[in-house]
Amino acid sequence: MRRGHTGPVTRHRWRRWDAAWQEALYGADGFYRRSAPGDHFATSAQGLGSTGQLLAEALVALAERHRLRRIVEVAAGRGELLTALAEQAPADLELVGVEVVNRPDSLPQRISWSQSPGGAGLPPDLTNLNETLLVAHEWLDVVPCPVAERDRVGTWRYVLVARDGTERAGAPVDGGDLDWLTTWVPDHVGRAEVGRPRDTAYADLVSRLNDGVVLAIDYGHNRDTRPTDGTLTGYRHGAQVTPVPDGSCDLTAHVAVDSLGAENVFTQREMIHDLVGPPKMPAHEVSATDAPAYLHQLARANALATMTASAGLGGFWWAMTHRPASDLG
Ligand SMILES: C[S@@+](CC[C@H](N)C(=O)[O-])C[C@H]1O[C@@H](n2cnc3c(N)ncnc32)[C@H](O)[C@@H]1O
Repeated sequence: MRRGHTGPVTRHRWRRWDAAWQEALYGADGFYRRSAPGDHFATSAQGLGSTGQLLAEALVALAERHRLRRIVEVAAGRGELLTALAEQAPADLELVGVEVVNRPDSLPQRISWSQSPGGAGLPPDLTNLNETLLVAHEWLDVVPCPVAERDRVGTWRYVLVARDGTERAGAPVDGGDLDWLTTWVPDHVGRAEVGRPRDTAYADLVSRLNDGVVLAIDYGHNRDTRPTDGTLTGYRHGAQVTPVPDGSCDLTAHVAVDSLGAENVFTQREMIHDLVGPPKMPAHEVSATDAPAYLHQLARANALATMTASAGLGGFWWAMTHRPASDLG
């Protein structure tokens, strides 16, 4: 176990991680009902210089490439990426946010909003979407899933957790969860998050679309790079913290991107280069003739470098599915 098996069993209410995680983030008083993601951690969509503008530029290019007329963002935070999109997207490109909270008042008027249950649950009216880019940036990593650990004889057991984060081993994993672990997790891995709820959530996203593109962007791994000890962790006020399911912190785990069933999985580095071109520093002379343009180009070049860095955000995954199916590029 991550933290030792402490105290008598009767001191705690033990639950599987998926149930504790769901309540901690999306329960009536859950973390995401009270907290804006940007208050606790930075993402490309809301916190790392001009990366939000660059991501918006890439998404507009993707929507135009596939002749789409709407971008729907699931897990829209406080609308930061949508606001960047509103600044860049042609006026006839519809913009919609989907989040567990109400529409923030400050959003540009052209952005509409739909409230969502949270976790793997999506609004029932998010359906039959046509000509739509349905994008979810850092959503799947906060879709709760079971955590499992092998015991001394190698049997996968659910990890149970108490409200204070203490863990103990539970029942042997069985059914679809065991099938998932058997298929997707190599023998040398001792602890893993069971990706099945993320697979289902991704399939649900795809099912909401009649035609267009589904795109889930997240950090993750595949069978060859599966971490040996799982990745579940917490974030609070900018710091990485021990994951405790009491609603005081974000709870997140990397996504097993190969099991999602996406039509194509690309690295962010590949996709950003494809959609907005390679990094290009502005010519120094521009700083003398047009300082604002120079600063803008410099910020864009920095954002591009940040978002495509091989050892950093460039390793994010873009899991894409086109409806009706076709080659993506
Ligand atoms: C890690 S944050 C990412 C926010 C934003 N996309 C970004 O990259 O900054 C995850 C967000 O997903 C939202 N979320 C979780 N489940 C959701 C669901 N089923 N529908 C809509 N939003 C959801 C949370 O409320 C939270 O704001």
